[in-house]
Amino acid sequence: MVKAAVLHHYGEPLAIEELDLAAPRFGEVKVKMKAAGLCHSDWHVVQGQLPLPLPLVLGHEGAGIVEEVGEGVTSVQAGDHVVLNWVPSCGRCPYCRLGRPDLCEAAARLTATGTLPDGTTRFSLGGKPVYQFLTAGAFSERTIVPEQAAIPIRRDVPFELAALISCSVMTGVGAVIHAARVRPGSTVAVIGAGGVGFNIIQGAALAGAKQIIAIDIVEEKLTMTKTFGATHTVNAGDEDAVSAVLDLTDGLGVDYAFEAIGRPETMADAYNMTRKAGMTVIVGIAAPHETVEINAFSLPSQAKTLTGVWLGQGNPPVDYPKLLDLYAAGKLKLEPLISAVYALEQINDGFAALKSGQNIRGLIRF
Ligand code: APR
Ligand code: ZN
Ligand code: ZN
Repeated sequence: MVKAAVLHHYGEPLAIEELDLAAPRFGEVKVKMKAAGLCHSDWHVVQGQLPLPLPLVLGHEGAGIVEEVGEGVTSVQAGDHVVLNWVPSCGRCPYCRLGRPDLCEAAARLTATGTLPDGTTRFSLGGKPVYQFLTAGAFSERTIVPEQAAIPIRRDVPFELAALISCSVMTGVGAVIHAARVRPGSTVAVIGAGGVGFNIIQGAALAGAKQIIAIDIVEEKLTMTKTFGATHTVNAGDEDAVSAVLDLTDGLGVDYAFEAIGRPETMADAYNMTRKAGMTVIVGIAAPHETVEINAFSLPSQAKTLTGVWLGQGNPPVDYPKLLDLYAAGKLKLEPLISAVYALEQINDGFAALKSGQNIRGLIRF
């Protein structure tokens, strides 16, 4: 039996349940969770914006220790420290073969089914299956994931910090380094200063951007963005974000604008605050039915690049260890990203704080 936070109905608080957890099958790994972050993607699911089969164990940004491995597992063994990779790529689909494991088709299917690759799940309650979000199901004392989802890491980084690498750091820093390839001396705007937005800001600082404009509606977090490299802040609750960015850039707009909330309106804002021939990068995840309104004439006449990024366009087996090395070298800040630590039983308090925007990252400690 394992204690886990389970979503039974959309829009309702998570329930703490004792679930049965079967043994790892071929190619699977049992992980004893040590820390898991509360990400806005989990919250999108709670609200019913990303429809998935229920009941479901949420959580995908996590770190823990391998407790047991199934047959055929070669890349990790019991005792290894691991970070969960929520896009366990197959290595065989057209996107994996193209060198884009972030867009793996097999992993994308698992996002929709809430299962492991064999189509089943190891969690159950009263004999009925309980699904696992992004193969991870990280809001559980123990979970079983595909081998590709358990990335071995160095042992000298605390689990709470390592957990952040799994989603917010990979997504934010990766958006800057892999997708945008921000050049030194650039101007950058970041809409949304949450777990992901703070990492876009520190990624832009790492890349040598000369001007980094942080945009949010929570003043305390805007103040904190300065310690991550923001040079200017805009409170979108007080002023129009697009006009403010144009004012700060002599009417030009920024070289790169990132959206890290997941709202169509702020996605359009990001596009509208990008200079001609600049780049707009959508990181936030909107509901599948939503559309963004963009002026059609501006597409050819302003020649901007509009793109999006999933998993920071990363390759976790390579990038998670690299990001942890950057932290160890003093080039990435992780401690100040954690605003609050909760016990699993307090997870709904953590989501309430996420909803109100007061935390950079809230974290479950097991
Ligand atoms: N204008 C500016 N900022 C806003 C607005 C707005 N209208 N509405 C919300 N925000 C801010 C919040 O105050 C918060 O700081 O956006 C931030 C969102 O941060 P989090 O809730 O911490 O979300 P995060 O986990 O960082 O994820 C951001 O990226 O990976 C995706 O699914 C994820 O869509 C989500 C996005
Ligand atoms: Zn996430
Ligand atoms: Zn694949």
